[in-house]
Amino acid sequence: MKNKLQNLKQEVLSQLAGIADIFDIEKVEKKYLGKKGELAAVFKELKSLPEKEKKAVAQQAQQLRDEVMDKIVELKNKFGSIDEKDGFIDVTLPGVKIEGGHLHPLTQVQRDLERIFLSMGFKILEGPELESDYYNFEALNIPKTHPARDMQDTFFIDQKNKAGEYDLVMRTHTSNVQVRAMEKYGAPLRAVALGKIYRNENIDASHEHTFYQIEGLMIDERISLANLAGVLKEMFSGFYQKEVNIRMRPGYFPFVEPGLEVEMSCVFCNGRGCSVCKKTGWVEMLGAGLVHPNVLRAGGIDPDKFQGFAFGTGIERLAMLKYGIDDIRLFNSGDMSFLNQF
Ligand code: PHE
Repeated sequence: MKNKLQNLKQEVLSQLAGIADIFDIEKVEKKYLGKKGELAAVFKELKSLPEKEKKAVAQQAQQLRDEVMDKIVELKNKFGSIDEKDGFIDVTLPGVKIEGGHLHPLTQVQRDLERIFLSMGFKILEGPELESDYYNFEALNIPKTHPARDMQDTFFIDQKNKAGEYDLVMRTHTSNVQVRAMEKYGAPLRAVALGKIYRNENIDASHEHTFYQIEGLMIDERISLANLAGVLKEMFSGFYQKEVNIRMRPGYFPFVEPGLEVEMSCVFCNGRGCSVCKKTGWVEMLGAGLVHPNVLRAGGIDPDKFQGFAFGTGIERLAMLKYGIDDIRLFNSGDMSFLNQF
């Protein structure tokens, strides 16, 4: 028995010396100090020993046990104990979800619209937000004295050009891209321009001073309102993912003739009448028309050979109708509980 204990001691000590991490400690602890461990077995065997031998062996076994315990405490201090707060990782616990970012809802909507127009063979264009009076107004058949300048509350830039005139504005619409696109690409042309625009507006649930628009422009030799109607129906049906109808009534914009206001059958009630469409079954969606000959001319395109249609509308408005958002200010609120829904 004494020999056995001696061997056991040697075995434990060599194992303890070879310990490299906290998991080794656990193993050794279980093997020798555990309820069914080697030392427990020794204590069990004691009972069957002759009385005079029993005492000495018991003492030796206790000594060994104390020695092993001390050593294990020492090692635990060195390697740390298996305890969560000390860095132990329970790989069976459900993981902590890492918050990933995602695209802003307006970016998602812009991408959706771009996809729809790309599929119809349109180019995607951009234009400057800081724009000359010429491209924002003049070239669009809105001369300096034109009352239509008051239709859009403009942010003028407080800086004169060489001729002593104030001629820079924050673009009031994406229509500034129309003549730029004609100059660059000529006719025939199919393009949409999406981007940020600025208006000196009082802010409320449906008005912002800075918002987004999508502009469409299609020029070719035989373009009529039927082409406009077809493209708009495709855009709305694609965007709202359901078949919609449109209707047109006269509207005034200096850069189109005829000018139109386009309405879409209400996507909430499918035209039956609800609070969104004020019981009419129709919602006003955008301004459009056939490009005015003066605008084609400004873009270097012969109005006797080519015609075109143009339309423009607010992207927030399209998004609000799609997702049932009732306050335009939410888009720029930075409110994560709003943004995380998209
Ligand atoms: N630019 C107009 C607006 O901002 C919309 C529009 C674009 C109307 C093109 C007709 C043609 O209100």
